[in-house]
Amino acid sequence: MQPERVLELDQIDLSDLTFWERPWSEREGAFRVLRQQRPLAFFEEPDLTEASALAPPPGPGYRAVTRHADVVEISRHPEIYGSGQGAVSIPDLPPEMVEYFAGMISTDNPRHARLRRIVSAAFNPRRIASIEDTIEEVADRVIKRAAGRGECDFAVEIAAPFPLEIICDMMGVPESQYATVLRCSNIILSGGDPEYVPEGSDPVLAFITAGQELTDLMNELSAERIDRPADDLTTALITTNIDGEALTHGELASFFILLLTAGNETTRNAISHGLLALTQHPDQRELWRSDPTGVGPTGVDEIVRWASPVIWMRRTVTEDTVLSGQELHPGDKVLLFYNSANRDESVFDDAYRFDVRRSPNPHVGFGAAGPHFCLGAHLARREVEVMIRELLVQLPDIEAVGEPDRLHSSFINGIKHLPCRFTPH
Ligand code: HEM
Repeated sequence: MQPERVLELDQIDLSDLTFWERPWSEREGAFRVLRQQRPLAFFEEPDLTEASALAPPPGPGYRAVTRHADVVEISRHPEIYGSGQGAVSIPDLPPEMVEYFAGMISTDNPRHARLRRIVSAAFNPRRIASIEDTIEEVADRVIKRAAGRGECDFAVEIAAPFPLEIICDMMGVPESQYATVLRCSNIILSGGDPEYVPEGSDPVLAFITAGQELTDLMNELSAERIDRPADDLTTALITTNIDGEALTHGELASFFILLLTAGNETTRNAISHGLLALTQHPDQRELWRSDPTGVGPTGVDEIVRWASPVIWMRRTVTEDTVLSGQELHPGDKVLLFYNSANRDESVFDDAYRFDVRRSPNPHVGFGAAGPHFCLGAHLARREVEVMIRELLVQLPDIEAVGEPDRLHSSFINGIKHLPCRFTPH
């Protein structure tokens, strides 16, 4: 895929949702212009008050960080670029939302380190290796459910249930609640897409209601775990005691919601983009199929670079500083556009080529090195690798057909629906 230069520099507005509805090649073209000509471009914030009575008025605007080196520099200096005022939304969160959506991703040290320590062991490579069998079983089960039909909606029937079932299992969420978790996390990461938040309803209210539903689920589960502790993350969260302090109810709720949503939506989209990319690049697919063990690890990282399932994270400047010649002041917001950093031609040879053997591949799809680097990166890598390997074995001629139906969002590079076809068995 090659970038198309349709928009000139001054026509680019990353805050305009219609920008994100443009074909992927046109967006790539715009980001290339930004990287080359205005790598820390300033944009007004989107006005969300028309869509929601609960949305705060637009803030002071933000700088879009589009070069790889600047994304890396910001990520490794959390003392200058903080997450505490919000990492996953452009406006500071309205007070009603803080309790549910200000999990550790939107905190700074010392609180961030304290929260992350509670769950980090569950996501380290050794623990993820120990659940390899579960990952394989779930992949097998999900693929078999569709295998006899010869066609399905890949995003809904294969890519979505797979990481959902794994993260729910790790958290101790019972199967009867999987559909609730899926519905709520779709709403929370929907960016207000009308398929998940129907037109006419208030998107902020929908987020809050979905957050409340997941909190109710957590309350139910934790009440059970107090009586009967289990080997799951919910038990770890409620029994943790750091320096004599348990997590507050708000901390518990936002943790629970963050793990369920982050563990769910991102990997799902990586897998759907993976099938799409392998369909569009049959030579790369053949390389992977003929040597799954050799190609798997680099192939997975290339899918994450290619797809950049999380488009940006936000930081807020805490002291006067200079970044690539640009003065920044306390309170200035910066958005780290991972999708753009992942196409930076000064870092990646032939950046627009999908190359499953790309090495080195210093992509920032899981964030750049720093305290907030994706907690679930090892898990996600195993999930994507196992799923692609199993697909190529069990449904060897599977291919995406037709156009993917994309999520209307500037934050998550989502695929809602992706028709696919294969020889049934
Ligand atoms: C392909 C799949 C995934 C992608 C592309 C992805 C991407 C990201 C990115 C870009 C960040 C922010 C990094 C930063 O701010 O420096 C992040 C953070 C995070 N991710 Fe992932 N992620 C994926 C899968 C997962 C999974 C499976 C989990 C499991 C629970 C997870 C849990 C988290 C958590 C908890 C954080 C916040 C970490 C912190 O603030 O310390 N992610 N992820």
